[in-house]
Amino acid sequence: MISEILKRAREYELAHEKDILPQERPLFHLSPRVSWLNDPNGFSWYNGKYHLFYQYHPYSSVWGPMHWGHAVSDDLLNWEYLPVIMAPDTECDSFGVFSGTAEVLPDGRQLLMYTGVRKEKTEIKGKYKEYQVQCVATGDGLTYEKYEGNPVLTGADVPAGSSLSDFRDPKIWRKSDGTYACIVTNRDASGSAQLLMYHSPDGFHWSFHKVFFANNWRFGNMWECPDFVECDGKWLLFSSPMELEAMGIEYPNGRSCMCLIGSYDEQTDTFTEEADQIVDSGIDFYASQTMKAPDGRTIMVGWMANWDVCEFRQPKEKWYGMMTLPRELSVRNNRLYQNPVRELEGLRTNPVVCKDVEIRGKTTLEGVKGRCADLVLRIRPGQDTTAFTIRFAEDEKHHVSLTYCPAEGLLKLDRRFSGTRQGTIHQRECVVGSREELKLRLVLDRFSAEVFVGEGERAMTAIFFTEQTADGISFESNGTSLLTVEKYDLERK
Ligand code: FRU
Repeated sequence: MISEILKRAREYELAHEKDILPQERPLFHLSPRVSWLNDPNGFSWYNGKYHLFYQYHPYSSVWGPMHWGHAVSDDLLNWEYLPVIMAPDTECDSFGVFSGTAEVLPDGRQLLMYTGVRKEKTEIKGKYKEYQVQCVATGDGLTYEKYEGNPVLTGADVPAGSSLSDFRDPKIWRKSDGTYACIVTNRDASGSAQLLMYHSPDGFHWSFHKVFFANNWRFGNMWECPDFVECDGKWLLFSSPMELEAMGIEYPNGRSCMCLIGSYDEQTDTFTEEADQIVDSGIDFYASQTMKAPDGRTIMVGWMANWDVCEFRQPKEKWYGMMTLPRELSVRNNRLYQNPVRELEGLRTNPVVCKDVEIRGKTTLEGVKGRCADLVLRIRPGQDTTAFTIRFAEDEKHHVSLTYCPAEGLLKLDRRFSGTRQGTIHQRECVVGSREELKLRLVLDRFSAEVFVGEGERAMTAIFFTEQTADGISFESNGTSLLTVEKYDLERK
């Protein structure tokens, strides 16, 4: 039996998905079935498919009472929509079914753990107080049922003085003894982020274990969407801090996603931090989630937006929000490396290779253009090169650019000229060092660019909404540089 609220959402998405033409969506990035999408949820491999759920408001292209949308895929690039699985239809989640993650039960059912949000009137007229609690649901990969014992964690389960309204985004996993653990983000009595850890013998009955990690006002004030995963013998603790104060070039102001790299003692549930870094140095990357693929790969996906910039929209939008490309993670020397999933190579077609081209001033290269493309660029700046710029999504008036300044060792992303009239964040930069050869992988999918530096030691992501006819790609060198380009169109098979 499904609720009237869920039934209505299913009917709505079915009736309206045809209003969005295929060419109005990205080709291989997941966008909402209709209307609005934010965080990835429950990213998992289950019953022979990749499952990606998402924070979803089906009724308009702005955030509203949250549902969980659902899509499945065999290759992380071709996504098939399935019916929305959860709606805000019970007392403890009547204001929204917020973010969460997935595990598997011994009987084979998938277990989803998520945040339920409810609002309660206060004595002050028009003022509401919000309560966030943790809930679970089980399902078979198509339909899911909320547990009748929800909520499984409430304000009674947080340390004294901690926030009851910022208590969300559970990350669940199974420990090696078969029991369950989760971390839930929260604020301590001073308002600083803390991650609370809970234990459960069965995934349904939970008890407070410890404060897993305390931010002590180091990175912002609230860590949304924590994630914790082992990769190459290290443990990665991801979070998306709110209201981060800029720190050097590594951490810009506001919203971004960061990663602590360290070790984890499962016996004592102790995470020991060894290094920290931003996950993506571009503009649009937030609320990441990881999963383990059946072949052992650790794969991460993020929301290709963030709350500080989501007023950056297409002019006549029918939908809002995309996921990033799923990225394979690795760790080397306490540094996180990201690269597009290797499945992307299966979409490559029409190779164009230009080797050791001397670039001085601005030029285009035969066959190098397009808005769904995969480019591997090798730039060798000369002694006299002060800047090397790649422009894409280009026409006479518009472009998005990447500029490498070898002396400063900076890579700069700029979408100011992508036709927008919104004065939000349009530029970002990151340190890549002075290199003899800078290798960049640039993946374009109609409304987005994802850049991977070197072996994947840095990523920069940005969305833009220039007309698709702006499909030029050009290169400009101040000074003489050598450029090798390997370019493919990307097509859905
Ligand atoms: C992060 C977030 C989460 C919350 C969800 C609500 O983007 O704010 O903390 O669960 O979005 O949609």
